[in-house]
Amino acid sequence: MFEDFREYSVAEFFKKNRHMLGFSGKVKSLTTIVHELVTNSLDACEEAGILPDIRVEIYSIADDKVKIVVSDNGPGIPKELIGKVYGKLLAGTKFHKYKQQRGQQGIGASGVTMYAKLTTGVPVHIISAYQGKMIIADVGIDINRNEPIVENIVETDTDIHGVIVEVVAGEVKVDKSEYSVYEYIRQTALANPHAQIELIVNGDRILYERQTTVTPPKPQETLPHILGIPPYEFLEMAKLSNNRTLRSFMIDSFDRVTSQKVKELEKLLPDIDFDKNPKELSWDEVDRILKVVKSIKWYPPRKDVLIPIGEANLQKSIEAIYKPEIIVTRTREPKIYRDGVPFVVEVGIAYGGSISSKVLRFANRVPLLFDSSACAITKAISEIEWNRYEIEDINTAPVLIVVHLASTFIPYVSAGKTAIAQEEDIISEIKLALMEAARSIKTHIHQKYRLYELSKKKEALLRYVDQLASDIASLSGEDRELIKNRLEEIIREKYSI
Ligand SMILES: Nc1ncnc2c1ncn2[C@@H]1O[C@H](COP(=O)(O)OP(=O)(O)O)[C@@H](O)[C@H]1O
Ligand SMILES: [Mg+2]
Repeated sequence: MFEDFREYSVAEFFKKNRHMLGFSGKVKSLTTIVHELVTNSLDACEEAGILPDIRVEIYSIADDKVKIVVSDNGPGIPKELIGKVYGKLLAGTKFHKYKQQRGQQGIGASGVTMYAKLTTGVPVHIISAYQGKMIIADVGIDINRNEPIVENIVETDTDIHGVIVEVVAGEVKVDKSEYSVYEYIRQTALANPHAQIELIVNGDRILYERQTTVTPPKPQETLPHILGIPPYEFLEMAKLSNNRTLRSFMIDSFDRVTSQKVKELEKLLPDIDFDKNPKELSWDEVDRILKVVKSIKWYPPRKDVLIPIGEANLQKSIEAIYKPEIIVTRTREPKIYRDGVPFVVEVGIAYGGSISSKVLRFANRVPLLFDSSACAITKAISEIEWNRYEIEDINTAPVLIVVHLASTFIPYVSAGKTAIAQEEDIISEIKLALMEAARSIKTHIHQKYRLYELSKKKEALLRYVDQLASDIASLSGEDRELIKNRLEEIIREKYSI
């Protein structure tokens, strides 16, 4: 039996489990490719403080085969990293960071390359302009070894910057459903009003213009808060640390841990040696430290690391894309979940106009189109008694609900990053935000109904004026026109809007 024993690369794992990366179904696979490339462009522009100009082009080549071209004006990728970015799974700049950003795992770009290889065999074609050099190359992936294959490299000088990625993918389908690239890009534009995004599908062009020229502040990197760390992770961090003492390791590795605070811990843990090398900590010791950590008071995690879209910007982009009668947006104060992870919730409720019932879910400005039933946002919406806000049935009313969760760590349900886990603290914060916005919407709906009722009554009464004026004129002998005018005046005054 053990003659067959062998080790597998992470690329082989994801080849077998490509659905985990979002590659399942023809429509979803295409949206996933666009999603991975566009989020990378947005992240790169944000990191470099550039207002993003992104173009997504899709050309149908054969029945279920397309060419996808995504271009950005970001900083570009240095020559020596192009292979790793597009040809090696679990490689990137974001995995180890506690920072609000779209990518986390380093399996986006290379996942796309792998999907192209599996469905058409064509490597991705990369043009990267970075710091004065333009590199053109074809990048593939050696799935058995999870290593990049870089070919046909051409290098020239340039004075522009950015990346163009060309992917030829199979087993995909272009359509206009709620899971399509059209919907994905529309929602991406909504959550990124500072970006200009152009979508061209077989010559059909849609432009989402920038709604603001203010670059969002760059999210700051933070350290994990000590209250949110499980023992396993504490131990892992300790093993990798370069600090010589447990004391300095704790101060350097966690948000809000000061030498003062460590002294407090030392008093409560007399038999733990804080001078010891953190690499030598045992599970039992870490367990004891973390128990005592939970018993003392800490400053909450830093919250200035979160960058919401903002009430005014969200208002502008909902207006530009959906043109409803009324929009209410709310950005709440940052909060904490799992004792240590900061997050902020913002919502928009739009009503009337051409709006039909719809929920838009976002995590760190990325639209979540799939798995809505598993998501904390769906759960929060279902727990609200909408009829208290004059909305009888949230599933049919002309109401658009937008919910955005920004966090240094989004608790996704799975590696596919399609839904937010149902954390109590997050659900309750979403509910509070929505109820706050719903109260304002209620006032509007109320007013609208009142106006409607009034105008109905006015219309009904005005219909009788003619007859009434004639009757009164013949009874009283007064001038009919005078009576009619006076009657109309009275009705207008009484039912004026
Ligand atoms: N368009 C781009 N411009 C600049 N850098 C990029 C771009 N796309 C990807 N990268 C770099 O490649 C890395 C790997 O990307 P990806 O595989 O999608 O993983 P992740 O986004 O989760 O880090 C990113 O962390 C980033 O450093
Ligand atoms: Mg990515």
